Amino acid sequence: MDELDYNTCNATFRSLTDQQRLMVEETSRLIGAGDDLELTSYGCGFGMFELELIARVPRRTVWFQGVDTNGEAVARLRTELTGLPKVRGHSVLTASMADVADFRIAPTEYGLFVQSLCYLDADDGMAVLKEARNRHRVLIVAVTPLNRLNGPFAESLARQGVTRPLFAQTLAEELARFGIEFRSVTVGAEIAVPVSEPAHRLLEFLTFARHQPWHGGTSRAELLDAVGELGTLSAGHVRIPHPVEVFAIG
Ligand SMILES: C[S@@+](CC[C@H](N)C(=O)[O-])C[C@H]1O[C@@H](n2cnc3c(N)ncnc32)[C@H](O)[C@@H]1O
Repeated sequence: MDELDYNTCNATFRSLTDQQRLMVEETSRLIGAGDDLELTSYGCGFGMFELELIARVPRRTVWFQGVDTNGEAVARLRTELTGLPKVRGHSVLTASMADVADFRIAPTEYGLFVQSLCYLDADDGMAVLKEARNRHRVLIVAVTPLNRLNGPFAESLARQGVTRPLFAQTLAEELARFGIEFRSVTVGAEIAVPVSEPAHRLLEFLTFARHQPWHGGTSRAELLDAVGELGTLSAGHVRIPHPVEVFAIG
């Protein structure tokens, strides 16, 4: 994605879906109320999900640990966390979660993988999960099923050699294969794109939805047609199913 800034496209995409809010609600429900929360997020990025979870989870204070390969995102998240009174401390590392034995990662009660485990092939991802089970009492993994919307993302992973990524169906199969008990809930999120969206927002949305530069037509009518193909039109919106599976392990 080089023609448009990745973060702008991602922000537009996320602003049109209730997926993050519903995932935060489900994750908060799993964690439950209490005093302090010790949490590690693998693939934390700059914390779009994590910061909302910290704000909403019914805990008085949070100690946060994050791991991501993207150094810029890590630096940005550190700055955000430093300003939050609810965060009593944090450690955010530029590292790969595939480096399973990284001794810098401290044990915490909860280990979180939000939309990040699918970047790994099944063998690597399961090795990461197994090691994480030794560090955390409960693992929560949020990942979408492989569907039409993330097909292009799966193709781009395949080009990078990740041929069996851990999307929801594959993760469930692998957990069963290794006899690891889990509970999972389907969060029935959707994307609602108002037909009144300006052309630049439609372009950003399509670019991110397809995870690559948009090569189709760029008039407003053409962009709207392309969005329309992804979902169904109702009440002035194109509605596109965007479910996510939330797994609780441990
Ligand atoms: C879709 S983003 C999710 C970010 C964050 N969890 C959220 O929901 O806002 C996926 C993140 O996984 C990170 N990632 C991908 N492969 C990784 C790896 N092997 N180790 C650590 N992070 C990784 C990417 O850099 C990216 O920040």
